Amino acid sequence: MSFVNNSLLKAICLSRIFLIGFMGSGKTTLGRELAGVMQMDFKDLDEEIEKNEGTTISELFQSKGEEYFRSKESFYMRSLEQTNNVIIATGGGTPCFYDNMQWMNDHGLTVYLNLPPEILFQRLRPQVDHRPLLKGKTDEELLQFIRERLKERSSYYGQSEIIVEGNSLSASGLQKQISVHLKKKE
Ligand code: S3P
Repeated sequence: MSFVNNSLLKAICLSRIFLIGFMGSGKTTLGRELAGVMQMDFKDLDEEIEKNEGTTISELFQSKGEEYFRSKESFYMRSLEQTNNVIIATGGGTPCFYDNMQWMNDHGLTVYLNLPPEILFQRLRPQVDHRPLLKGKTDEELLQFIRERLKERSSYYGQSEIIVEGNSLSASGLQKQISVHLKKKE
């Protein structure tokens, strides 16, 4: 099978790839690796917010509340409009607020990393105390939260141009899936 080469792939992607998915779906880890494979830059939207606001996401949630965080999230995402040749790992809630999903589809290629709730549960379980939306949850509450939020968010995530099964996915596997998808559209 032949794949479109890296530079053509980047041109087709409008030089911006948005990785979308629930917390724990691997957006940051895979995004960083994919950027290496594709010789593109990498940005993590949460890190951009932390850098610009001079605080952590947890502290921002605590001191200013979720509504403030969502407005900043949307603002800093839009400020990436001038940034090219970049893979962007979005936050798990990014596509679900304002018209962020539409904006991402208008400004780059959106790729949803889809994982079942049980796998997300296993991945997120050790991190509950470090994540503002998960803090203090028991195992039962965590699994229920993941199931409910995934259901609520699926209509946003599902607007992604490409949907891939995110479990056991490597960066080169992801690159191939993106290539195959774009090739079909040629
Ligand atoms: C959130 C996901 C987090 C972070 C914030 C809210 C969410 O990002 O933006 O804690 O609403 O799902 P990651 O998905 O990168 O962990």
